Amino acid sequence: MKEPQYRGVNELRRMFLEYFESKGHLAMKSFSLVPHNDNSLLLINSGMAPLKPYFTGQEIPPRKRVTTCQKCIRTGDIENIGKTARHGTFFEMLGNFSFGDYFKHEAIAWTWEFLTEVVGLDPDRLYPSVYLEDDEAFDIWNKEIGIPAERIFKFGKEDNFWEHGSGPCGPCSEVYYDRGEAFGCGQPGCTVGCDCDRYIEVWNNVFTQFDNDGKGHYTELEHKNIDTGMGLERLAVVVQGVDSLFTVDTNKALLDRVCQLSHTEYQKEHETDVSSELWRIM
Ligand code: SER
Repeated sequence: MKEPQYRGVNELRRMFLEYFESKGHLAMKSFSLVPHNDNSLLLINSGMAPLKPYFTGQEIPPRKRVTTCQKCIRTGDIENIGKTARHGTFFEMLGNFSFGDYFKHEAIAWTWEFLTEVVGLDPDRLYPSVYLEDDEAFDIWNKEIGIPAERIFKFGKEDNFWEHGSGPCGPCSEVYYDRGEAFGCGQPGCTVGCDCDRYIEVWNNVFTQFDNDGKGHYTELEHKNIDTGMGLERLAVVVQGVDSLFTVDTNKALLDRVCQLSHTEYQKEHETDVSSELWRIM
């Protein structure tokens, strides 16, 4: 299988923002981790969270196409830190957003072009998933991008419908990368969606078409939007061929410093490793 060319985290961030600038997006700086005028969140947990007023139409965006690399904290993942290769609490999320402009066709085509042509990931290692009722997204992957039907996975609401508190939400289509058997659980049913670290989700395209009032009432948004999210460090795991989020170039530098200060050695004792990893993300 083809291996992608090595790229650092900082280079991948720049490549993503430049790619979407070339597609007419305005690159905006990361917003603060502390939300403004949003009582539904304690901390910013995704690229789209600070952009909610643009999605709902409460505020006019500076441009209908925006791209960001947003600092995020997901406290919901804290129990997984140190247990999986792919969960962190603090991470950076790359995103391209459409506020009532382009929709599924462009979002999916650009996902594929960026991953396979710009970053150079092996298409044979990539597997898209769609929400099981989203035939439109399935057909785009299948007929426009040319992914055979048996390589496209259909999942239910728990996996392929994105919402966090109140606000804009909708079905999503993710892209998984197969890191190979060496990273798998070895169980007979291990495939895309397995809880182990073999098939790692790198990209999530949310087709934002509803607004959730926080009480489970959904209304159709006047303008359909695109909210994508790709974990920068997860992409780096794949591109750098390292074990986990904690050993991509930028995180490893911090981890090494923590080990130096605390006179410990990484990957000698599991408990110490987890403390070192936690230290770096707090
Ligand atoms: N909101 C989606 C996520 O956080 C896509 O940006 O995964």
